Amino acid sequence: MKQIDHIAIAVNSLEEALSFYQDTLDLPLLGIEIVHEQGVRVAKVDAGNTHIELLEPLSPDSPVGKFIAQRGQGLHHICFKVSNISQELEVLKSCNMRLINEEPKIGAGGAKIAFIHPKSTNGVLMELSETSY
Ligand code: CO
Repeated sequence: MKQIDHIAIAVNSLEEALSFYQDTLDLPLLGIEIVHEQGVRVAKVDAGNTHIELLEPLSPDSPVGKFIAQRGQGLHHICFKVSNISQELEVLKSCNMRLINEEPKIGAGGAKIAFIHPKSTNGVLMELSETSY
């Protein structure tokens, strides 16, 4: 694990959340993107040495939609940057970590991503991300 790539927060509405993050906290908005595979609209905000991703569900039955229905808005996951995600996943499997994705999927910005189950991480959903940049 090299560093935190982003912290993701589940929100009902990007526009409503951005009025806080962008207008009140004065953090620059880097872009808004729809990631169909994850069922979310994502706003990426620059928070200095990391990014904050605001996740708005595309539908109530998407994973983030279900998360908000069960637990309300709030911290959804923390993402670590890795240089070789396939290798990291093998290491985690050999440590008997419970993985949500055994193989990398494609996430926002075309990154290779995979999630580790909160049961294996002291209660926080954790994402790994390998980018080519
Ligand atoms: Co993420």
